[in-house]
Amino acid sequence: MNFELTEEHLMIQQAARDFAQTELLPGVIERDHNQTVAIEQIKKLGELGFLGMMVDPKYNGGGLDTISYVLAMEEISKIDASVSVCMSVNNSLVCWGLETFGSEEQKQKYLTKLATGEMIGAFCLSEPEAGSDATSQRTTAEDKGDHYLVNGTKNWITNGNTADVYLVIAQTDKEKGHRGINALIVEKKWDGVTVGKKEDKMGIRGSDTHSIMFQDVQVPKENRIGEDGFGFKFAMKTLDGGRIGIASQALGIASGAYELALKYSKERKAFGKEIMHHQAIAFKLADMALEIEAARLLCLQAAWLKDQHKPYGQASAMAKLHASRTAMNVTTEAVQVHGGYGYVKEYHVERLMRDAKITQIYEGTSEIQKLVIARNILG
Ligand code: CAA
Repeated sequence: MNFELTEEHLMIQQAARDFAQTELLPGVIERDHNQTVAIEQIKKLGELGFLGMMVDPKYNGGGLDTISYVLAMEEISKIDASVSVCMSVNNSLVCWGLETFGSEEQKQKYLTKLATGEMIGAFCLSEPEAGSDATSQRTTAEDKGDHYLVNGTKNWITNGNTADVYLVIAQTDKEKGHRGINALIVEKKWDGVTVGKKEDKMGIRGSDTHSIMFQDVQVPKENRIGEDGFGFKFAMKTLDGGRIGIASQALGIASGAYELALKYSKERKAFGKEIMHHQAIAFKLADMALEIEAARLLCLQAAWLKDQHKPYGQASAMAKLHASRTAMNVTTEAVQVHGGYGYVKEYHVERLMRDAKITQIYEGTSEIQKLVIARNILG
């Protein structure tokens, strides 16, 4: 077993770290406050290949492995988790879903642009009454022969307004349960598509989360992904990989907060010495470092399994469950290490603590991850 990263991995990690420091750090507090999407920086990320990292170069992708993706996600998330969620959805859910299950025409038309950030994608699964219970789709895709007629509302859609293309999960035949669901590629500019209310969120405030309404939207049959009725399995398989992205986001939020706490504890003096020399703080830092390392190893293991084409659903659920828990614990402790400074915006850790919470909710709550793990363990 080799735990060493390759030269290429280290280069990608450094490139993501440099980008985060130079392009994302300036303005991150203001974007959080004003709920502004860093669209210029997201486009630059696309030009650098970070939005289609694992896509085959013949579709304009980076042709990199999932380990590289985990490393880059961690670095971007340390500084700006609002940007990294856009990166994660585009890479893991949209590009991977299209590359793995889409037709050649769909790849030429959409994937080649999504991989470079010329187009941004969103994944429309959640509904007011179908978040965790993903089979209970109310959005319908009525079969009209040469096209589907889509009606319904999707909620909490990451990249809701930024996206040009939505992958929409909708019910075609209710009688067939999960086998009656389809995944369709829908363009935002089409008639009947409306971007609804922007959510005013606790964290990741620089990412745009909207409801999306579909009213009599005509979707050509050639925009269905896979066979008729494949939509639910498409969503589940795609989310297995998506969870590696969100686990890495949580890892980055945690390690970003840890690095700030470590730096602060070396500078801040109390009772005549730097606070890191007080055991109360040193033990906190040791616990943080331990949890982060375990989360990192789980993320890398899930990524490695995916790269080896071995089953990774359980590993990605474990990585997400542990990393999101770590993000919450570590950011809370980082605020504690900073004392009063931790509670004000200028020191970043309060934002990281707010951002951490969403990682326990989206792409499956912690309870869903436990369900996935338990089902695997129990067979
Ligand atoms: N891979 C492949 N197939 C899978 C699968 C997987 N991971 N999980 C389930 N399936 C298949 C099953 O084998 C079964 O197929 P057969 O009937 O042919 O055997 C079928 O799908 C139905 O499976 P279940 O009966 O297990 O389905 P379920 O209704 O009990 O649900 C669940 C399982 C794990 C709870 C699932 O609904 C789930 O993951 N829910 C959470 C959804 C989620 O993550 N939502 C987040 C929204 S996306 C998002 O947040 C993106 C963003 O913006 C950041």
